[in-house]
Amino acid sequence: MASYSANSREEGRAPLPMENRERDWWLMPLLTVVVLTLFGIYTTFRAFENNYYHYTNNGADYLSPFYSPLLPIAWYLHLPLFGLKMVSPAIYILIFPLAFRLTCYYYRKAYYRSFFWDPPACAVAEPRADARMKYTGERKFPFILQNLHRYAFYAAVVIVIILWKDTVDAFIWTNPDGTHHFGIGVGSIVFLVNIILLSLYTFSCHSWRHFIGGKHNCYSCSCGTRSSYGIWKKVSFLNHNHALWAWVSMLSVWFTDFYVMAVASGMFKDIRIL
Ligand code: FES
Repeated sequence: MASYSANSREEGRAPLPMENRERDWWLMPLLTVVVLTLFGIYTTFRAFENNYYHYTNNGADYLSPFYSPLLPIAWYLHLPLFGLKMVSPAIYILIFPLAFRLTCYYYRKAYYRSFFWDPPACAVAEPRADARMKYTGERKFPFILQNLHRYAFYAAVVIVIILWKDTVDAFIWTNPDGTHHFGIGVGSIVFLVNIILLSLYTFSCHSWRHFIGGKHNCYSCSCGTRSSYGIWKKVSFLNHNHALWAWVSMLSVWFTDFYVMAVASGMFKDIRIL
């Protein structure tokens, strides 16, 4: 067993040294590092590529979620961010979902464990237990910024509304004479699945659950109401699977952008179903 100094915060808890764990506790941190790193590289590349994000051939209208809403070129080219001149509108758009995911309670757990090893898994000792003495929780910079999550949630709701509109557009096809009709392509299905998963992730958020039905210490006494308790229970149903929605919605938004990039660049063709 690991030994800790008398004033160590680990003393009195029951962390097991890594070599004492029988389960493959390292699998989840490893998967998290691999997937988040690949997603980060792909997203950075696509954000700066500033190309192949809007497919409008054959009457379809697929706009990548990385570039939605469409910002006027003249606007973003002349609006510096932190003093830097931006070359792509995606930079201005992605900061909102990025802030939302970065401060998400679930993702915090995932990347604290996998990238910081703090701790690497449940009841596994940190490699440098003494370094923990310097950890101040989320009360000091930079981790105090995690408390902005509820504001990132408001921005995420706006983004979800915009992406629902893009999904409706993916089902409205333009005729050669400029009129429109209902149609379905493989891309339309990709957009629909993506926005459903993004909505499940957004509205299973802990901040949302607290916002609509929380804020009470007791539902049966005067400080709580039956209706808020009912809403809280419904959102809690979604919230139980928040980690699942976090992963599948990230993969779906990744795939949706890839799909738009692929059909817009001619890598493969969108198939019309209806
Ligand atoms: Fe994960 Fe709010 S807690 S999105």
